[in-house]
Amino acid sequence: MTALNTASPDPLVELEPLVASLLDRHLATAKEWFPHEYVPWELGRSFNDAPWEAGDSGLSAVARTALELNLLTEDNLPYYHLAIWNLFGGQKAWGEWARRWTAEEGRHSIAIRDYLLVTRAVDPVALERERMEHVSRGYYPRGITGALDGLVYVTLQELATRIAHRNTGAITGDPVAERLLIRVALDENLHYTFYRDVAAGAIELDPSAMVLAMQRQVMGFAMPGLELRSFRQRAITIAAAGIYDLRIHHEQVLCPVLFKHWRLPELRGLSDDAERARDTLLAFLDGLAATSANLGGSANPRPATAADSSSQHAC
Ligand SMILES: [Fe+2]
Ligand SMILES: [Fe+2]
Repeated sequence: MTALNTASPDPLVELEPLVASLLDRHLATAKEWFPHEYVPWELGRSFNDAPWEAGDSGLSAVARTALELNLLTEDNLPYYHLAIWNLFGGQKAWGEWARRWTAEEGRHSIAIRDYLLVTRAVDPVALERERMEHVSRGYYPRGITGALDGLVYVTLQELATRIAHRNTGAITGDPVAERLLIRVALDENLHYTFYRDVAAGAIELDPSAMVLAMQRQVMGFAMPGLELRSFRQRAITIAAAGIYDLRIHHEQVLCPVLFKHWRLPELRGLSDDAERARDTLLAFLDGLAATSANLGGSANPRPATAADSSSQHAC
């Protein structure tokens, strides 16, 4: 980890060299790919000659719901770009990252839309109308009050999105869709590791401020897409299918990030406020573990192990 100079109080300035080195790592790791290589264009037929019908696709209703939600969430990109630009300032490596990230995210909606239309998985009119309605309204993530809160939120969100894409691919039963969504999830994973490691640098810089940000963002977390019509019903469908639910959120997102990577319980030298925030957050995580266990969690819950009962916290 790059040593951080704590003389300046501006985390964006302090973290910029780390962002530059993580951007270099990202560019060296990211693989170029092309949507057309993942979309079965040979299946395409004109909607003018043969209008869409509900029976055109063999995909299950759950798979279609998940794909639509994933796509409409990706379609909101202009507002995510705006949020990231505002939160991280757009200067030097921060700006380079925001532009590159935006270009990569844009490819996700291009590829998923192409797949859905070419395979006639969705009503093209309904899909476009919903995109227009969603983007015209514009979902700007709320409750993210500054750069440090932003780092926590986007780390969790990118990892959650990686998991949702990956699990959506798995339940489609279509090897073409699964291959495409694995490809998209690989991008989301690199976005996640980028933000996670910038956040680790921010923890070195100001652990108390980051613990306060973790408490706010973890306890107020909502997946993007919340303001979509029928989001709640769609989210229930997706949870019931084991694509993304409370147990996954707790076990596969919050626990590894907060405990393994950011080492929340071990952070030392916290302010009184931050100590209290950590206690509150750890209690919240324990409650989340209990709630997700009571709800039954995903369709394939991980069996409890001896380590679960012996650990101090439910992670
Ligand atoms: Fe994406
Ligand atoms: Fe992403």
